[in-house]
Amino acid sequence: MTANSDIPQALIAALRDARHVCILTGAGVSAESGVPTFRDAQEGLWAQYRAEDLATPDAFLTDPVLIWRWYRWRRDLVTEAAPNPGHYAIAQLADLVPRLTLVTQNVDNMHQRAGSRDVIEFHGNLFEDRCFADGSLQVGDDTTAVPLCSDCGSNLRPGVVWFGEAIPEQALNESCAAAADCDVFLSVGTSSLVYPAAGLADLARENGAKVVEINPNPTMHANSCDYSLAANSGVALPKMVNLLAR
Ligand code: APR
Repeated sequence: MTANSDIPQALIAALRDARHVCILTGAGVSAESGVPTFRDAQEGLWAQYRAEDLATPDAFLTDPVLIWRWYRWRRDLVTEAAPNPGHYAIAQLADLVPRLTLVTQNVDNMHQRAGSRDVIEFHGNLFEDRCFADGSLQVGDDTTAVPLCSDCGSNLRPGVVWFGEAIPEQALNESCAAAADCDVFLSVGTSSLVYPAAGLADLARENGAKVVEINPNPTMHANSCDYSLAANSGVALPKMVNLLAR
């Protein structure tokens, strides 16, 4: 399938017929909100670090103060940003199809802020604090360099899934079930490099779904998609939803 930025009529027809639509989003969906994607070079103070080197349990064990500074910087950046038309179009799509499952690799709450409900957070949530020792959800003291667990005194950590860590079981099970059940699977704004998220599209395809990629830079999976839209999600998704709503 060659990439094209137009929305094919056959895709709209597939969405009209769909019983269940599953969407997987990645950092690209928030790019038009001004949130840098994960593999973009970082800016300012953080330019000397690669995100892949900071988002690990080892990095946290080595220098928890540095990691908390980075995550607080990211919390501020995301709090100051606003959802974009791509986020809103996904929220609107949920009202136009019988069933929609939204799985996001993003930890930024933007889908929820745009009105999406029951979002499956595959990689956790940037605004949660968890105990490093047992993973329980806690509320940390934001004024301390490294907040501590009020139950056991261990360091708290951001509630995101780091490299080398398992996906939360419920999120993984629900996402796999939705991918296997859906009739149309949309993979939006993700480089599809990180598994198991990247495998959801294969699961959908193997179970007969039409698979669609929306990404201005088509990924190595584009050729195995039924439709590859080479476009920004903030443009393609509203167009698609408007055509469907007609
Ligand atoms: N619209 C759609 N896609 C876009 C846009 C846009 N406006 N701008 C950029 N993109 C695409 C890029 O072309 C790229 O393919 O978004 C993708 C972002 O890729 P990554 O930065 O790799 O982000 P993601 O795929 O979400 O990363 C997956 O990896 O590091 C982990 O946990 C982290 O959740 C993250 C996961």
